Amino acid sequence: MHHPDHHTFNRFIRFLAFLIGVAVAPVVLAASGEPPAPISTVEAVAPALTGQQVYNNVCIACHYPPGVGGAPALGDTNAWTPRIAQGMDTLIDHALNGFTGSTGVMPMKGERVDLSDEEIIVAVEYMVEQVDQ
Ligand code: HEC
Repeated sequence: MHHPDHHTFNRFIRFLAFLIGVAVAPVVLAASGEPPAPISTVEAVAPALTGQQVYNNVCIACHYPPGVGGAPALGDTNAWTPRIAQGMDTLIDHALNGFTGSTGVMPMKGERVDLSDEEIIVAVEYMVEQVDQ
């Protein structure tokens, strides 16, 4: 006995199974696979050196107390308080791009243009953290 309806039904089931497979497979893959690759943003890039390491290797040349050439010395509250009041964005901008202030010249990246922006930023944060406010 031949049942055309039965045949159609089988094809429908297979089609349904195919659809479910297509819908479920990515979910299973996502749940069992590697975590997705991190999206590359500036924030996601970990600095190679810590702020303290950058300070000890580079910034210390001028910022070690009492400070060379008008550089605010590490941990010098009087020297740092008005500078910190400018806001971190300004401090970071001045450290990255250099600036000439009322006491001297802060060279771009402390003359270490090979360092990444992130390394300079963590160094600024380290220097600011050393100030008792
Ligand atoms: C060649 C000397 C020199 C080196 C090296 C140096 N600085 Fe400076 N820096 C200065 C001087 C001088 C000033 C003060 C400029 C002024 O205000 O007239 C200064 C100021 C700053 C300020 C304050 C900016 C502001 O707006 O008041 C920051 C932040 C700073 N330096 C960060 C750094 C960091 C981070 C490094 C190391 C990566 C570094 N400096 C290396 C000389 C130096």
